[in-house]
Amino acid sequence: MADQRWPWWPLLPLYPYGRRRTLVRELIPDQLWSFEQLQGIFYVAVPIRMTVARVRGGLMLYAPVAPTAELLRQLKDLEQRHGPVRSIVLPTASGLEHKLPVPAMARAFPGADVWVTPGQWSFPVQLPLPWLGFPAGRTRVLGEQGYPHADELRWFSLGPIDLGLGRFHELTCLHLASGALLLTDALVAIPAEPPDLFDLDPTPLLFHARDRGDQRLEDTPEQRRRGWRRLALFASFLRPEALEVPPLPQLLAQAFAPGCRTPRSYFGLYPFRWRTSSDQAFAALTSSGRLQVAPVLERLVFPRAQVVLLRWLEQLAGLADLRWVVPAHYDAPVPLSADDLTTLLDRMRSRSWAPADGDWAYLARLDALLLRAGVVPDQPLD
Ligand SMILES: [Fe+2]
Repeated sequence: MADQRWPWWPLLPLYPYGRRRTLVRELIPDQLWSFEQLQGIFYVAVPIRMTVARVRGGLMLYAPVAPTAELLRQLKDLEQRHGPVRSIVLPTASGLEHKLPVPAMARAFPGADVWVTPGQWSFPVQLPLPWLGFPAGRTRVLGEQGYPHADELRWFSLGPIDLGLGRFHELTCLHLASGALLLTDALVAIPAEPPDLFDLDPTPLLFHARDRGDQRLEDTPEQRRRGWRRLALFASFLRPEALEVPPLPQLLAQAFAPGCRTPRSYFGLYPFRWRTSSDQAFAALTSSGRLQVAPVLERLVFPRAQVVLLRWLEQLAGLADLRWVVPAHYDAPVPLSADDLTTLLDRMRSRSWAPADGDWAYLARLDALLLRAGVVPDQPLD
């Protein structure tokens, strides 16, 4: 479909590459809208969300996704009803997947201000913002140069935390009119059922629902659910305990089977084998209350900076107007009261921090490796 084209995909070659379908939903009537697309590697695709918030005189785009023609058409519809896009916010310093769509979105709305989180970094070389496509005349730095719509939004900083190669920093805001806290990666609510976005393209689910490369992709509700459980474990822990990588000769023997010789099934290559314990692991991942710290961040960003996270949560727990959380991934809006936050805080203070067992083992090894190699500092807050 021409209007789902995203020509900048080679900058960050994630599934579904040059074609991005967008699911638009109204989250809070006349106040908040969600624009979701899929992104991932080797069909490990999770939804990524841009949130559109109504502000005085128009709209704010928070954490933009790829501005395809399809997406722009739907945004123009919203502009017709609620006024022009007034500001575009890049609320993270580290999430590359959220950063790349910003310059193209800024070009699509030449009248909008662009706000970025301080300490933007590019890899492998540090480049100035205009070189990365951010418009020099109308780009401002959040915090250092104020905040957009400061009388309608309350801004809270999570970080910065020094990660060696760059830094982790998120700027979150409470949208007072809806009572929704907008954030990027820090908190997630992983749903038990596959997100609706996969109705537009269930391929990633069906791909991972199989046990071997020579099985065909079969579309049933149960296969979709199984694929979703595995995808969520994958995206959360990178290498969950229930996942094995079969030996290469076995992989190749199962490849190129009849019915699987298509690019859609990667020609029958499926380099994973799942133990039955994956179902319990998924239940554990989704059972710890609706909202949790994203496991990858908990284990790779916060292990030596827990205090930053706790302080941020304590600030939020004091907000009488807080009703919802809208993260940039997985479920939204997630109902959340100050009481829920206190419970989350208690749980985080009492649990063992930076675990290394079970599903956490791979992330813990990665953390130890980066620390030993001197890539990440052991005192990230100094
Ligand atoms: Fe993200």
